[in-house]
Amino acid sequence: MKLEQRLTIALPSGERSKHYALRLLRRAGLEIPDFQGSRSLSHEFGNLRILEVKDPDVPAYVDLGVADCGIVGKDWILESGRDVYEPIDLGGEPYRLSLIGIQNSGSRIERVASKYARSARKMLNERGIPADVIQLSGKLELAALTGLVDAIVDVVQTGRTLKENNLHELEVFAQLSYRLIVNRAALKLKSSTLRELIHRLQHLETETGIEK
Ligand code: PRP
Repeated sequence: MKLEQRLTIALPSGERSKHYALRLLRRAGLEIPDFQGSRSLSHEFGNLRILEVKDPDVPAYVDLGVADCGIVGKDWILESGRDVYEPIDLGGEPYRLSLIGIQNSGSRIERVASKYARSARKMLNERGIPADVIQLSGKLELAALTGLVDAIVDVVQTGRTLKENNLHELEVFAQLSYRLIVNRAALKLKSSTLRELIHRLQHLETETGIEK
């Protein structure tokens, strides 16, 4: 795909998401040479600029116009609360946002930890669970196992992490997948380039199964 206009794409830097996003973009016809091993976070290939952005930050880069578009999981779009244009569900191995607790524990849920504090508060509120939500950065399973909290709200993909930590999925809050997000102003200013990319991504076969 030849780019007539300069295009900046926010690529999620997480191992799983980056690998998946790059594969989709290359299959859509963008020529992106291998840049693994480079410590630079911004890569220019002719009219294409790739920014390696932490997954939770992709919606902000796109919404605020630094990137014209980006690829990111629906979990981070929900958590960002940003009003980005989301034209395509890009599939990927399905995953979900769930309420997770200690196996067979019937105790009340008073304190919950999550990387997705905003979504967790909203979803617990909607279910009438008046828990206190604390924001942690990762490895949430440990918060449940050590008794720091009664439950966690986290993503589940293969279920392996839950199984190995003897944790239990109490309720699925949302089914998730990867999405293309587009800056609304860029869609007007770079209409032909972005619409061609959207069209090409739309016509890729749905992919399933991404390597961890
Ligand atoms: C995510 C999530 C779980 C795990 C679930 O963590 O927080 O720990 O993946 O995946 P599974 O169901 O396939 O086992 P991530 O790998 O993003 O690391 P983190 O906890 O450090 O954020």
